[in-house]
Amino acid sequence: MTDLLNKPDLILHKLFSLKDQVAVVTGGSGVLGGAMARGLALAGARVVVLGRNEARAKAVVSDITANGGESMAVLADVSDRSQLEIARDSVLKHWGQIDILINAAGGNIPAATITADANFFDMPHAAFAQVVDLNLVGTLLPSQVFGQAMVARNQPRGCIVNISSMSAIRVISRVVGYSAAKAAIDNFTRWLAVELAQKYGDGLRVNAIAPGFFIGEQNRDLLLNPDGSLSDRGQKIIDHTPAGRFGEPEELLSTLIWLCSSGSSFINGVVVPIDGGFSIYSGV
Ligand SMILES: NC(=O)c1ccc[n+]([C@@H]2O[C@H](COP(=O)([O-])OP(=O)(O)OC[C@H]3O[C@@H](n4cnc5c(N)ncnc54)[C@H](OP(=O)(O)O)[C@@H]3O)[C@@H](O)[C@H]2O)c1
Repeated sequence: MTDLLNKPDLILHKLFSLKDQVAVVTGGSGVLGGAMARGLALAGARVVVLGRNEARAKAVVSDITANGGESMAVLADVSDRSQLEIARDSVLKHWGQIDILINAAGGNIPAATITADANFFDMPHAAFAQVVDLNLVGTLLPSQVFGQAMVARNQPRGCIVNISSMSAIRVISRVVGYSAAKAAIDNFTRWLAVELAQKYGDGLRVNAIAPGFFIGEQNRDLLLNPDGSLSDRGQKIIDHTPAGRFGEPEELLSTLIWLCSSGSSFINGVVVPIDGGFSIYSGV
């Protein structure tokens, strides 16, 4: 690393290139996961787009390859260990290694949401379990399955980035199950960071990104009215975001690439907010 300071022309490439690395992005077919998959490919990684919907996954793959990148679609449900193992084996067969895992599959489940006309006391346990299963177990299982390939190498190496949320650290009304699951992801990120580094060495790192509010398929109808203007909830969020706007998916990329690259080789177990200041603003 010290040599780097004598090579100013190479510093960005050395610190942030993901060339020759293989990255698996769960939920890579979604709005944020898709942007992350495209960004990792532009940084040089070969990218596996993992999701359940073949057409959506293949659309992201086509986009990456049209831009000169290398990508493949793999279908699996993140809450099904055997499907993930088949996915891992097909990636290893194709590219021989797995260096990066982005756990971006996730989201809210409407039945686990306490709307104005619902009450907390009647929320079905099954709905709460379903949203925890998708977000928390859907982060745990890929970390086990793809993480195993990272530690099985001659020299264990790999990097996991989980996707948290503002709801992990600030109370966001309605989304009780989603919030519990995302808070647990923060804890799991720290726990796994310690476990992997202590057992397998400093080549293994686990960090997380906590996006603020971005317009996605799942939240569009909550944040915007049909005419594109802000809903009441959308307006409240903007009022509590010092930047005064929603984020753009591309704004996640510099942090993501940094967390996956050698530039962050001594950074482990952190959760980085990318939120236009939402998480630090008291509202006053
Ligand atoms: N948008 C925001 O403002 C925001 C803010 C904070 C955090 N986040 C988090 O960021 C992540 C991505 O959100 P997004 O807005 O990009 O959502 P999105 O567009 O709905 O994408 C979610 C992706 O997850 C995949 N997925 C869902 N269930 C899955 C399962 N069981 N197995 C495999 N893949 C599954 C979906 O693909 P298939 O349909 O193909 O399975 C979809 O591509 C989520 O974890 C979300 O909680 C989003």
